Amino acid sequence: KKVVLAYSGGVDTSVCIPYLKEEWGVEEVITLAVDLGQGAELEPVKQKALDSGASISLVENAQASFVADYAFPALQANALYENRYPLSTAIARPLIAKLLVDAAEKYGADAVAHGCTGKGNDQVRFDVSIAALNPTLKVLTPAREWGMSREETIAYGERFGIPTPVKKSSPYSIDSNLLGRAVEAGPLEDPWTEPTEDIYTMTRSIADAPNEPEYLELGFEKGIPVTVNGEALDPVTLMERINEAAGRNGIGRIDMIENRLVGIKSREIYETPGLLVLIDAHRDLESLTLTGDLTQYKQGIEQTYSQLIYNGLWYSPLKEALDGFIQKTQEHVTGTVRLKLFKGNCAVAGRKSANSLYSMDLATYGAEDTFDHKAAEGFIYVWGMPTRVWSQKRRDGV
Ligand code: ARG
Ligand code: SIN
Repeated sequence: KKVVLAYSGGVDTSVCIPYLKEEWGVEEVITLAVDLGQGAELEPVKQKALDSGASISLVENAQASFVADYAFPALQANALYENRYPLSTAIARPLIAKLLVDAAEKYGADAVAHGCTGKGNDQVRFDVSIAALNPTLKVLTPAREWGMSREETIAYGERFGIPTPVKKSSPYSIDSNLLGRAVEAGPLEDPWTEPTEDIYTMTRSIADAPNEPEYLELGFEKGIPVTVNGEALDPVTLMERINEAAGRNGIGRIDMIENRLVGIKSREIYETPGLLVLIDAHRDLESLTLTGDLTQYKQGIEQTYSQLIYNGLWYSPLKEALDGFIQKTQEHVTGTVRLKLFKGNCAVAGRKSANSLYSMDLATYGAEDTFDHKAAEGFIYVWGMPTRVWSQKRRDGV
């Protein structure tokens, strides 16, 4: 039996290697470490997998696809789970699942494996995405089944030459990538406990943010951000640039109690500076270029879309159908948004578009006004008809 294992270099996924071989009789473990901009050195990770018993250690830089094929479609949907979390971790899972399946097919493996626990969303996202892409592959989940405590896991690893983490291991569970960081567990499990400054790496505290506002001009083409301050940038560089600008201005921290798919409420700290700023800008450009009824209808779609992503249904017929809707809506979402970043706040300072549906002639209160005020009277007469009838009936005591 041959297995491709999603590998991070941490203790848990490292222990998965000997565990799969010793306990479950897997003959060959191929590891796959995916670079999604988490900032970890992947050369040592590659070596560590081999030292831990992997026969082949694959490392893949998938940042470009991550931003272009996963983050940007979610941005076009203004995707925010429970109106707050821009799904930075959730979006990464279907991509990792795809790369696992690709590797399994390429190397002729019978199964893929991951190191998720049994309490989270991530296991669902991996399992369901893998099933959607190749239902003949088995999914092995050692960490969901071994029932070892942290100490036992480390002790098990030591028997197979997996080094004990050198630094006193952090009390937090952290997932990190180019879109943001998710921090949970340890002292954060008490929802009343304020997070300490040291958990943040992408954002400054508001107190340390500059005292002068920073303006940022974001150019969009069909709902995709393509320029920053007039400069055309590839998706990864663009994301980095906006993360830095938002982060240094103290923008992008989220502290929330969220509802996991498995029914548990969990306290999560996120920092997703760039993505939140992009959503603000994108939504604003939509307000200029989409009709009112479309904007309002799309909000319902956005909520469903966010839930689909959160709940592991990135690859699903409903998601595909909604993608068709969202892509259609983005045809005219081209233009520029000017943002003012200042002390934890991202304000839209201006917006413009060749496709703008805003008409100064209609909106103005000045002399140039072309709106026919007389027409309003008849409109309101008809619009208010049901209300008038209802009110009269109520007075009559009907
Ligand atoms: N709760 C968040 C989500 O479902 C973040 C999960 C973070 N994952 C982790 N392994 N720490 O997307
Ligand atoms: C995990 O248990 O793997 C992390 C939390 C989550 O997936 O929601």
